[in-house]
Amino acid sequence: MYWLLIAAVPTLILLALMSWLLVLVAEEAYLGDRAVAFLYDRAAGVYDTVKARSARHDSRRVALPLARALSGVPRPLILDVATGTGRLPLLMASQRGFAGRIIGLDLSANMLAEARRKTEGLPDAISLLREDALTLSFGDNTFDAVTCLEGLELFSRPEAALREMARVLRSGGVLLISNRVGPETILLPGRTYREGQIRTILRGLSFTSVQVKRWQQHYDLVWATNTGE
Ligand SMILES: C[S@@+](CC[C@H](N)C(=O)[O-])C[C@H]1O[C@@H](n2cnc3c(N)ncnc32)[C@H](O)[C@@H]1O
Repeated sequence: MYWLLIAAVPTLILLALMSWLLVLVAEEAYLGDRAVAFLYDRAAGVYDTVKARSARHDSRRVALPLARALSGVPRPLILDVATGTGRLPLLMASQRGFAGRIIGLDLSANMLAEARRKTEGLPDAISLLREDALTLSFGDNTFDAVTCLEGLELFSRPEAALREMARVLRSGGVLLISNRVGPETILLPGRTYREGQIRTILRGLSFTSVQVKRWQQHYDLVWATNTGE
């Protein structure tokens, strides 16, 4: 009997290690989109506290350059895919002179509930929607900008999500996504891209002027323009 227990120890350690990798590093990404949403439903109440540090630079690194890129559009329409608790919509809506509208979508009801609570004073600028990033309900060429921060590596088919983002973006529109980088990406095969890979994928989707910039410890920001061809 004891030998059976001893033989099971390496298997149990392996299982514990795999669970740790799946939940903490890959955020259940390989269990499917619903499982990821389930995890974020559980984390919604503490998400902003965990992210508070990185949020400090968001205005300078994300919102200001996006507002500048859209400065020629009087009332830009922006889609924020995997909006979570409304980080990007709130940032954009608080930009001085911003007269556009942001639609934030997410699969997690609880993340959206947090976003709704934080954006309730801004009904003209921000709408929220529960929807899967892989099957967007919007028509072609709808948005002046499409953004997706810290979402791509969680999608079961990130390239399908990118195709959808390209589809709903108008010709000349701006794409802003994050791409996870760093040693942990080895644990996220097929969900993150080397710089050359993301450039190739986006060019294949008719994007030009692809720019990759370091953003945070774990992410690059990728900016691109849709040629609409
Ligand atoms: C790390 S959070 C990022 C939230 C926000 N963009 C930010 O930067 O704070 C990832 C979000 O992606 C959402 N998500 C994951 N898979 C999704 C999918 N297939 N469709 C829509 N949202 C998804 C999760 O529910 C979660 O809110």
